[in-house]
Amino acid sequence: MKNVFAAAALAALAAIPVQADEITWSGTISHVFEKHCIACHGSAAPEYADFKKDKAAWLKKGIGMRMETYSHLLPFVGWPNSGALMRRLDDGTGSIDGKPGNMYLHLGSDERERQANLAIFKQWVGNWNLKKWSDVSKSELNNLKVKY
Ligand code: HEC
Repeated sequence: MKNVFAAAALAALAAIPVQADEITWSGTISHVFEKHCIACHGSAAPEYADFKKDKAAWLKKGIGMRMETYSHLLPFVGWPNSGALMRRLDDGTGSIDGKPGNMYLHLGSDERERQANLAIFKQWVGNWNLKKWSDVSKSELNNLKVKY
């Protein structure tokens, strides 16, 4: 009987994902971001509200909004711009119209690299869904990982 419990305990342990595999902003995402996103979303880019105020001028310069720190990036995952990161990076498999988000192409120079980096972002976010604040549920938000 004791062995049965031991075996069950071992099986339960084996089902727990290995911690070392966990994707964090500081360990992985910040580096991917630095390589593929920072040119337009770095510290020289405006805060989101300032970007919106003068959108046409920023677009002319080809610059987006600031997103290069953990604190600047999270609002585009959870709130207030819920799902924005996911909508923009998705390859089309998660969207209703099947079209990739317009930042997907920045994830890499070829499809293999884009898919690899998308997989990393998906793992980091955890609950990858493209819903906006008005549609996302509390439990969906609760299942976001986005570890520092
Ligand atoms: C060549 C410049 C450029 C690069 C590189 C780039 N972006 Fe963008 N991004 C923009 C611009 C400009 C906008 C604003 C226009 C728009 O909404 O499409 C934007 C908008 C966004 C938005 C939407 C924010 C919102 O809610 O309005 C997200 C999210 C985003 N980018 C994420 C990324 C990520 C992640 C990367 C790296 C994989 C990236 N971008 C790479 C220029 C860029």
